[in-house]
Amino acid sequence: MMRINKYMAMCGMGSRRKCEDIIRSGNVTVNGRTVSELGQKIDPEKDKISVYGKPLRPVTDKIYILLNKPKGVISSVRDQFGRKTVIDQIGWSGSRIFPVGRLDYDTEGLLILTNDGELAYKLTHPKHQIEKEYLCIVRGLLKEGDMKKLREGIDIGGFVTSPATVTVEGFENNMTKVRIIIKEGKNRQVRRMFEAIGYPVVYLRRDRIGGIRIAGLETGKWRYLTSKELEMLKSI
Ligand code: URA
Repeated sequence: MMRINKYMAMCGMGSRRKCEDIIRSGNVTVNGRTVSELGQKIDPEKDKISVYGKPLRPVTDKIYILLNKPKGVISSVRDQFGRKTVIDQIGWSGSRIFPVGRLDYDTEGLLILTNDGELAYKLTHPKHQIEKEYLCIVRGLLKEGDMKKLREGIDIGGFVTSPATVTVEGFENNMTKVRIIIKEGKNRQVRRMFEAIGYPVVYLRRDRIGGIRIAGLETGKWRYLTSKELEMLKSI
C-alpha cells in the first residue's frame, strides 16, 4: 500500500505536491470513486486509479532534460493564455514531462524537466537545502550594508529568508551585477529580496542547481542530463 500522491508521482504526474493539487481538483478516481482524502492509501496491484479519466501506469523510462530557458517562456506544461511554454520551447512531443520548480516568465536559465516525480519532490523540498545560484543585474549601486541584510536574512513579506551568499561582480551605468546563492525557492524570491532592500532586478538568470550548471548551453537550447549529473542529483 502507498499514498496516492506518491503513486501518482511515480506515474509521472508531477511532484507529490503537484499531485495533491490534482487530487484537490477532483480529477482523481480510485476504482471509479473520486478521491477526497489527500492521504488515501492505494494498492497499485489491485486498485484502478485514473487521472483526468485516463488510467495511470508507472513510468518505466525516465527522462531528464536540462533547458536554458529564455525570457518570455512560461515554466509550465500548459498555459491558459496560450503563451509559449517550456514544452513548446524544446519542441517536445514524447511522453509527459514537467518542469521541476519554476522560473518566472522573465527569468532565464537553468530548468530541469523530467517525468521523475520522486526526483522533482526531492529537488524542491526545502529540507534538502539545495543551492540555487543566480546572476542578477539590479538597478542602483549595491551598498555593503544592504548586501549584509541579504546575507543575514530579510523579510520579503510574511517570510524571512535564510542567509544568502552575495557577491558583487561589477558596477555599470548605475547598475550592479551580482551573484546570489539561496537554498530556498519561494515564489519570485530573488526579485523580492532585492526589492525589499530597494534595488529592482532588471535581469535574472539561474546558473546552477546543486552541482548542475548551465554553462556551455546557449539560451533557448536543451540537452539531456549526463549520467554523472544524474548521479549527483540522486545522491542528494
Ligand atoms: N527568483 C526569482 O525572483 N525568480 C525566479 O524565476 C527564480 C528565483
